[in-house]
Amino acid sequence: MDNFNFYSPTEFVFGKGRESECGEYVKKYSKGKVLIHYGGGSAVKSGLLDRVKKSLTDSGISFTELGGVQPNPRDTLVYKGIELCRKENVDFILAVGGGSVIDSAKAIAAGVPYEGDFWDFYSGKHVEEALPIGVVLTIAAAGSEGSGDSVITKEDGLIKRGTGSDVLRAKFSVLDPELTQTLPAYQTACGATDIMAHVFERYFTNTKEVEITDRLCEAVLITMVKETPRVIADPNNYEARANIMWAGMVAHNGLVGVGRSQDWNSHGIEHELSALYDCAHGAGLAVIMPSWMEFVYKHDVMRFCQMATRVFGCQMNFEDPESTALEGIRCFRRFLHGIGMPINFEELGAKEEDIPVLVKKLGIGDGKRGGFVSLSSDDVAEIYKIAAKASL
Ligand code: NZQ
Ligand code: ZN
Repeated sequence: MDNFNFYSPTEFVFGKGRESECGEYVKKYSKGKVLIHYGGGSAVKSGLLDRVKKSLTDSGISFTELGGVQPNPRDTLVYKGIELCRKENVDFILAVGGGSVIDSAKAIAAGVPYEGDFWDFYSGKHVEEALPIGVVLTIAAAGSEGSGDSVITKEDGLIKRGTGSDVLRAKFSVLDPELTQTLPAYQTACGATDIMAHVFERYFTNTKEVEITDRLCEAVLITMVKETPRVIADPNNYEARANIMWAGMVAHNGLVGVGRSQDWNSHGIEHELSALYDCAHGAGLAVIMPSWMEFVYKHDVMRFCQMATRVFGCQMNFEDPESTALEGIRCFRRFLHGIGMPINFEELGAKEEDIPVLVKKLGIGDGKRGGFVSLSSDDVAEIYKIAAKASL
């Protein structure tokens, strides 16, 4: 096991109706004005935003608001948010929504105290200081409620890039599984795919014998395989929603990756798809991740056999381990298809002829991207080609 630090300072406020307490939690961190940041309208329609405002008002907190965050959040709204916070002397940001809203809130939080262009942080500069943020989560997916990461798309050139810093971790995150019951089945499935991808990015490692982390990863994956079809069949299944919501946090606050190397190439490769086509991140991952697996499995056949047998319940074929590894990947793709995810370019709305553009935008050039298997630009092109034509 490699040496590690594990830091997850967020206070998680979990359960039915807990958003009515958010005023009290904001009060711990804000002495001044709060910015409530939200998305395209689901939180307005459901009445959640009104309940949040009431909670803040009841706690004597003054606030201003900025809605309109799009999925795959844009830099343009971040600039607006930074300006608004400075003008109104905002000292705390409350994100009410999913990964896109939270990531936009984090970008604004980093941008307010910074004299330069906030995009510097998405071009390699480390975030040292940010306004504190809180979260009321409405979709189990990105894990941004527990992570220090934020991903933003620059409209000019459609460049999607991330940043990460412990100062961007939320002070508190309210996780009420009931809030996710209004999600369309497609968004629920996109979220489930993203959660599983966050685990797989950490499961495929070159560090041997970190049994505890393997088993934690498998616990999350097995939970997702069991619970996702239950919420697709019955969106109001609270227990299944609750398990998924907590799994989404556990998958991405860092716990299931400690003590060993990680991959993250599927995320990098996917981000080019959601940047170019504005598709849901989870849907892009459903197309990319099994294709990446097919491309790299020979690097460590036994690790793929472990996934196949422990997560998907495949029989181990000791005479021909490769067949077990491939069966595991097929099971994953079949599972994704079964919950309504696209599995190839056509189903996603991507075009094979765009592959050279996607590869170029990823920016590997003549070098390699590190990970479980280091990838050259040609390797990435090959993964996109597998994804373009994938079938069950
Ligand atoms: O905008 P509204 O109207 O709220 O609608 C949203 C949006 O259309 C809707 N929605 C959310 N909660 C709902 C709901 N609709 C009905 N009822 C509810 N309760 O769902 C749609 C998707 O929302 P979004 O926030 O985009 O989803 P998600 O949480 O999957 O976030 C995706 C973004 O997060 C990034 C992705 O790249 C993508 O930009 N990621 C962020 C990470 C991080 N910060 O740690 C890690 C991830 O790997 C990921 O890259
Ligand atoms: Zn993700």
